[in-house]
Amino acid sequence: MITSSGLTGSVALVTGASSGIGAATARALAAEGASVALVARRLDRLEELASEIGESGGRALPIEADVADLAAAESVVERTVSEYGSLDILVNNAGVMLLGPILDAPVEEWQRMVDVNLLGLLYCAKAAIPQLLEAAENNPRGAADLVNVSSVAGRVARRGSGVYNATKHAVGAFSESLRQEVTGRHVRVSLVEPGAVDTELSSHNRPEVLETIKARFADVEHLQDSDIAEAIVYIVTRPRHVAINEILIRPTEQEQ
Ligand SMILES: NC(=O)c1ccc[n+]([C@@H]2O[C@H](COP(=O)([O-])OP(=O)(O)OC[C@H]3O[C@@H](n4cnc5c(N)ncnc54)[C@H](OP(=O)(O)O)[C@@H]3O)[C@@H](O)[C@H]2O)c1
Repeated sequence: MITSSGLTGSVALVTGASSGIGAATARALAAEGASVALVARRLDRLEELASEIGESGGRALPIEADVADLAAAESVVERTVSEYGSLDILVNNAGVMLLGPILDAPVEEWQRMVDVNLLGLLYCAKAAIPQLLEAAENNPRGAADLVNVSSVAGRVARRGSGVYNATKHAVGAFSESLRQEVTGRHVRVSLVEPGAVDTELSSHNRPEVLETIKARFADVEHLQDSDIAEAIVYIVTRPRHVAINEILIRPTEQEQ
């Protein structure tokens, strides 16, 4: 049952909320009292999560959208604001990870990663920033938050993850540039960089790639999606004068 009130009156939008880190983050933000817009392509999953949040006493709005479509990204922000009146927190989490050597990669896998991990994140950020600036001026917290979910892969490039590395490094560069632009107006831009988390993310890879991923992490006790959600809640519940710019979270047993 939702009882806490740290984000009561706040409005959050979480992309990629139909599974994994996004779903856990939406639950956690709702448990802190935020109204949460849930965005992804699988509407049935979003509706299920919205019911679960509603039954716990929270508020959630499922919105089916492909964030790689600029008009769709703009429209999810508009729908959130028209339903809940404002937008205080954007968690830019939707992503795909399609690994394997660069030499034999299907180019459409690269296109999907650039479209979702990079362009989708940029489109949602662009659409949300005017609302976040307004919220930072008017909400009781005196601040608004844009959390971009990158990866350890946004810090360290590895053989076999070239284009995924490229998209996540780009997210890091964009986040830091945007942070400098809006932080003086109390919109806090944060970067979260998880290591291996137990989610559906790797399941979309070609079978031979999946085997390599499984072998690499066979002996590592993975993080849970709730571990990352807790970090995001920590970021967005800091007092106005504290901005958590970046958090790198690996499973204890993950060396690289
Ligand atoms: N799991 C890890 O080990 C790990 C590590 C580091 C970073 N990350 C990052 O964490 C983020 C979340 O991943 P996850 O691990 O939670 O994986 P996940 O369970 O596969 O979640 C990915 C989410 O992104 C959504 N999505 C994908 N394409 C989309 C699109 N075009 N438009 C809207 N939503 C889209 C998916 O929903 P639909 O399919 O319903 O659209 C899903 O909700 C990603 O950015 C990933 O790169 C994960």
